[in-house]
Amino acid sequence: MIIILLGYMGSGKSTLGKELATVLNYKFLDLDDYIAEKENSSVSMVFKSKGEIYFRRKETEYLKEIINLPENYVLSLGGGTPCYSENMKLINSNTNVVSFYLKLSIPLLSKRLFVAKEQRPLISHIDSEDDLLEFIGKHLFERSPFYHEAEHIINTDNKSMQEVLETILTHLI
Ligand code: S3P
Repeated sequence: MIIILLGYMGSGKSTLGKELATVLNYKFLDLDDYIAEKENSSVSMVFKSKGEIYFRRKETEYLKEIINLPENYVLSLGGGTPCYSENMKLINSNTNVVSFYLKLSIPLLSKRLFVAKEQRPLISHIDSEDDLLEFIGKHLFERSPFYHEAEHIINTDNKSMQEVLETILTHLI
């Protein structure tokens, strides 16, 4: 089985994915880390030196590579992965995949991301929390339809990691 966590930047995909993988004794994979490793670079550097279109092409290429691995694992996607190149079709057509959208409200995302924006090329240039809030609002409006194609939608607002984990686990039984 492949458990896929998706959602906007800062929604806790990687933190939660690692924890979930430990609980299930599954392998953990993070698509951004996988891309960085394969490209011998960082996501920010790939964006900077080769551009976003190159990054999106690689993102799909490596997603296809990972999704065919024959093991049990938890995979955390990048925030934009579901929104490009029919990646959600690829995910939803694989019968071994269970996908979860970790849904967090715009103010909470904004708060979390303002202090962690530097290594995120899409928002690193935004200077104030108000501007970030506005950016996320518009961006999420475009991305939400893709995120909602996930098999399960988990509202994570004001929930502890343990609570979110338990909710995910109940969907897996
Ligand atoms: C992106 C999110 C990032 C990373 C890249 C683009 C996006 O991943 O893939 O910076 O388009 O939302 P995280 O969601 O892990 O920050």
